[in-house]
Amino acid sequence: MIDELNQLLESAKGELSQALDEAAVEAARIKFLGKKGSLSGVLRGMGKLAAEERPKVGEIANQVKAAIEALLDGAKQAANDRKLLSDLNREKPDVTLPATPRRRGHRHPVSQAMDDIAEIFARLGFKVASGPEIEWDLYNFEMLAIPPDHPARDMQDTFYIDDKTAPLPPPGSPPTVGKQTLLLRTHTSPVQARTMLSQPPPIRIIAPGKVYRCDSDATHTPMFHQVECLHVEEGLSMAHLRGTLDAFMKAFFGPDTKTRLRPSYFPFTEPSAEVDVSHFLCGGKGCRLCKGTGWLEVLGSGMVNPDVLRMAGFDPEKVTGYAFGVGIDRLAMLRHGIDDLRALFENDVRFLGQL
Ligand code: DAH
Repeated sequence: MIDELNQLLESAKGELSQALDEAAVEAARIKFLGKKGSLSGVLRGMGKLAAEERPKVGEIANQVKAAIEALLDGAKQAANDRKLLSDLNREKPDVTLPATPRRRGHRHPVSQAMDDIAEIFARLGFKVASGPEIEWDLYNFEMLAIPPDHPARDMQDTFYIDDKTAPLPPPGSPPTVGKQTLLLRTHTSPVQARTMLSQPPPIRIIAPGKVYRCDSDATHTPMFHQVECLHVEEGLSMAHLRGTLDAFMKAFFGPDTKTRLRPSYFPFTEPSAEVDVSHFLCGGKGCRLCKGTGWLEVLGSGMVNPDVLRMAGFDPEKVTGYAFGVGIDRLAMLRHGIDDLRALFENDVRFLGQL
């Protein structure tokens, strides 16, 4: 009977090597392992064996069965592979068909401007820093020398978040009124305070990001983008501010660009200056877009107010700093000659595709 079992395995091997498709493999399965198949046939003779022979024969029968099952699996896999290959060969692609056109996107003009600015400042040795868009009143206003009743808050009305369960600012923050109020940051300047609290001078950072104000018309959207710049070190003066701004504007608008500073006011800088650039389109001669002046107002800047340095734990007798904040959307608009800011955020591909 053991011989019979071995023969059975041999003939299964022979037959499965010829079984080229799934149907042939299935037929072989029924033939060898089916209820009325060869294996059952051989095992029917078990009853005639002596009792002591039965376990031995049973063991061999199980081994033969497992071996045939493995052969069946292998043959089935091979049959499937063969079918896949022949299907693929039948459906030969027509390489002469015209390709489906693929529309490629590109970076949004605001992202382009943001990346360009980061690259320009990387060359000047500035690192990119960031802060949260949902900000504490403490960092957005108070640590920038804008206490609760300061009139400068009027120009930066924003969206306040009423969350009594929100965590307090990190320990070590100065105890000031209103520090538990959360708001959508109105400018990127709070990153100045956060950076100064987290590292000693020299500090050289830019902080790009989204900011929010209660404003909406052709030149204001409730959300827009700014880049903050902060440099704190020993011996910095207004000359360093001018030099940095000049390098920035030349790199962004072109090598012939001139910058000029006009006196201004920001609570967190002293002195403060509004910065204009010569209009790159009319070369400073004056045109309709620059309202005939030849200059475009682009950003606010100044020397960091000693009170701001002191609040951050620095000694204004030892270190000084300069800072500025610039609207990225405005820079992108000027660069592309866009006259309605809202077009940047309507996501109309006919508009974006032209930029
Ligand atoms: N944060 C100001 C604003 O949004 C812009 C600004 C002005 C930033 C002067 C500065 C600065 O860092 O020095 O209007």
